[in-house]
Amino acid sequence: MCGIVGAIAERDVAPILLEGLRRLEYRGYDSAGLALLDAAGDLHRHRAVGKVAALADAQAAAPHSGGVGIAHTRWATHGAPTEANAHPHVARDEVAIVHNGIIENHEALRDRLTAVGYTFESQTDTEAVVNAVHERLEGGDDLLAATQGVIAELTGAYALGVIARRDPQRLIVARRGSPLVIGVGIGEHFIASDVAALLPVTRRFIDLQEGDVAELTRQSVRVFDANGHAVERPIRTSDLTADAVERGAFRHFMAKEIHEQPNAVAETLEGRVADDRILPEALGPAATQLLADAQRIQIVACGTSHHAGLVARYWFESIAGLPCDVEVASEFRYRRHVVAPGTVFVTLSQSGETADTLAALREAKTLGYRATLAICNVPESSLVRESDLVMMTRAGPEIGVASTKAFTTQLTALLLTVIAAGRAHGMDREAEARLIRALRQIPRQIETVLDLESRIETLAEAFIDKHHALFLGRGTQYPIAMEGALKLKEISYIHAEAYPAGELKHGPLALVDGDMPVVTAAPNNDLVEKLKSNLQEVRARGGRLYVFADPAAAPAAYDDCQVIALPSVDEAVAPLLYSVPFQLLAYHVAVLKGTDVDKPRNLAKSVTVE
Ligand code: AGP
Repeated sequence: MCGIVGAIAERDVAPILLEGLRRLEYRGYDSAGLALLDAAGDLHRHRAVGKVAALADAQAAAPHSGGVGIAHTRWATHGAPTEANAHPHVARDEVAIVHNGIIENHEALRDRLTAVGYTFESQTDTEAVVNAVHERLEGGDDLLAATQGVIAELTGAYALGVIARRDPQRLIVARRGSPLVIGVGIGEHFIASDVAALLPVTRRFIDLQEGDVAELTRQSVRVFDANGHAVERPIRTSDLTADAVERGAFRHFMAKEIHEQPNAVAETLEGRVADDRILPEALGPAATQLLADAQRIQIVACGTSHHAGLVARYWFESIAGLPCDVEVASEFRYRRHVVAPGTVFVTLSQSGETADTLAALREAKTLGYRATLAICNVPESSLVRESDLVMMTRAGPEIGVASTKAFTTQLTALLLTVIAAGRAHGMDREAEARLIRALRQIPRQIETVLDLESRIETLAEAFIDKHHALFLGRGTQYPIAMEGALKLKEISYIHAEAYPAGELKHGPLALVDGDMPVVTAAPNNDLVEKLKSNLQEVRARGGRLYVFADPAAAPAAYDDCQVIALPSVDEAVAPLLYSVPFQLLAYHVAVLKGTDVDKPRNLAKSVTVE
């Protein structure tokens, strides 16, 4: 999604803006730009289609400097990824704006402004906003009043950064529906869509609330709430360091994040379990009581987080005895609901800023759910702020668009939640102890799977000339198969589908031939013999099988059936372990195909628009 960086300082802010944009590249984008007010108060702009490196080249070829600036990476929504559509947008060489989000009434605004003489150079919704700010400046407003006046006219979602020639000592920002933080320096201030952009210059941040507008000068920050009242917003210090979002020795962030999973899962368990029991502090007294009162669970999420929810449905019903429904947020938010009494509404999200998940949460709050619980990786996110209760995953920053460690830490947090719910609903002590022991072994067992990487890299070679792949699973391994298929398709661009293995003969078996790799997970459980029968159906049609299996349950290996043994694990925690080889497989297929692993085409890390 689009990314914003801005700064107001004594020093030249151009290098800060470019470095900030580089740090936002992971969000996904297709063009970039920056605008600066120089010492004489003149406005200069560079824009480029493609990577931030192209923008940096343009700046190097014709350098501009200045103490006030805004910059942007654009992920096209209104209008193609062209230079004309790239931000910042400028009105009559006077005002420059960067914008994330979507202005829904931009056409009406554009028509009104065209009627009074404004011309438009782009197809974006944003250009109407910058012209509207200019119109108000011409009418005598200062930059703060002009911005406040314009946003009162807007419907939709936005994070905005605004600078103007005639008001060169100020940077105005506004936020509704799209994330934006203010970075606090000494005699300088910054803005960004994500703290990661500003870590080289500050670790002190102000989180803007929905509807806030702020005026930044070098020395001060004034924040106004949605009603225009001056408000104090606390400054927090981030634990993150600038190198927390560096790749280190790894070739890609995705590889680094896959390898961080033993530690990330261990961190998510830290302080929440002791010996063979879950600690009361794991969820806090309020959440523990809530789970005790819960009669039903509704989980809502998108993408990989949705897959974690699908695994949790099996857990909630089989371990805690609680009925559980799971739905993708974009569907949940647009249908009518019958909410059963005592239903707890649970959202799952790495970023905590996914527009559909946030909208579903806001909708749920009007529908009579017992309470809302967010399982999330970003403490300062909107989802965390707006939920009644929160369980943090502790994956650390996830930069690769393909979610990996966020998924396994979500599963960890979910299983802890399920165990806490199970205990409150009569699960016996020994069952709890068995699950906790199994969970505590998972970090080490993931390390064992990571040791299989070179074997999986070799397997990946068989996929690079393939156009389709099938992932099969039964029980909790069905959502893991869905996640494996999503990983493969999003980074290698190979069409991949997941099916419950028992559904094979109801349709997808027609697709199976020697060109169709079929990937599956076979932990040792009650369903493994049934799964093996399904695999025989594949072999009989000439399909090529790749089976990640428990040694005690593995099918026999043949030329057309490669078997990779994984450590034996308790059935309940098997989803955590079996997701890892699928991540490695997708990663190595993508590397061999030469795709942009960390920033796959058309995708964004944090999907902050609908
Ligand atoms: C998966 O690899 C993707 N990054 C995507 O499906 C992601 O999980 C989805 O957009 C939800 O994001 P969230 O967890 O930040 O809400």
